[in-house]
Amino acid sequence: MTPPFKDKNIVLGVTGSIAAYKACDLAREFMRKGASVTVVMTPEAKHFVTPITFQALTHNPVHHDPSFSHTPSGMDHIELAKKADLFLIAPATAHTIAKLAHGLADDLISILALTMRSAVAVVPAMNTNMYHHAAVQANMKKIQDLGYKLIHPDQGELACGDIGEGHIADLDIIIKSAESLI
Ligand SMILES: Cc1cc2nc3c(=O)[nH]c(=O)nc-3n(C[C@H](O)[C@H](O)[C@H](O)COP(=O)(O)O)c2cc1C
Repeated sequence: MTPPFKDKNIVLGVTGSIAAYKACDLAREFMRKGASVTVVMTPEAKHFVTPITFQALTHNPVHHDPSFSHTPSGMDHIELAKKADLFLIAPATAHTIAKLAHGLADDLISILALTMRSAVAVVPAMNTNMYHHAAVQANMKKIQDLGYKLIHPDQGELACGDIGEGHIADLDIIIKSAESLI
């Protein structure tokens, strides 16, 4: 059977959430299913998981600094956007979601979100009080109106010990959603 992501290029955006370690499993699972995975990180994400971890898992350079490019043209965001079949931001913090809602572009993830022609899927992960804040809810509605696909968080025990919505969606659900978008 042909793997569902055979010959597909997935750009995986990782932001500064405690759920960043789950992006390691996601990257591995996408690769197992035939995809090539390129990870892009915000500066904050590097406090949670190091670029070298993702580089070792994906066998691809990890992009995290808009002023340093891996590509001959010096324009990682253009090159990545051209080759991507899907841009998946998982986990997505409240901060990054706010930037997407307002079209800000001050790191590679927010720049790429504006550059991409492929589907862009956003997987929020945050504390339940943050998740229910009116500003976050408004920003999530706004990004959906702008065409981003939201993969909703589920209920669960959060890293802080609280129980409620905001827990990153199950990996199986993220992968199934990705399959439907690619
Ligand atoms: C230990 C710790 C865990 C955090 N987890 C989250 C989280 O799960 N979701 C979130 O929205 N923010 C979380 N934050 C706050 C973000 O790291 C912070 O808003 C940061 O500016 C996000 O930047 P970025 O979106 O550019 O990666 C956490 C902060 C700390 C110190």
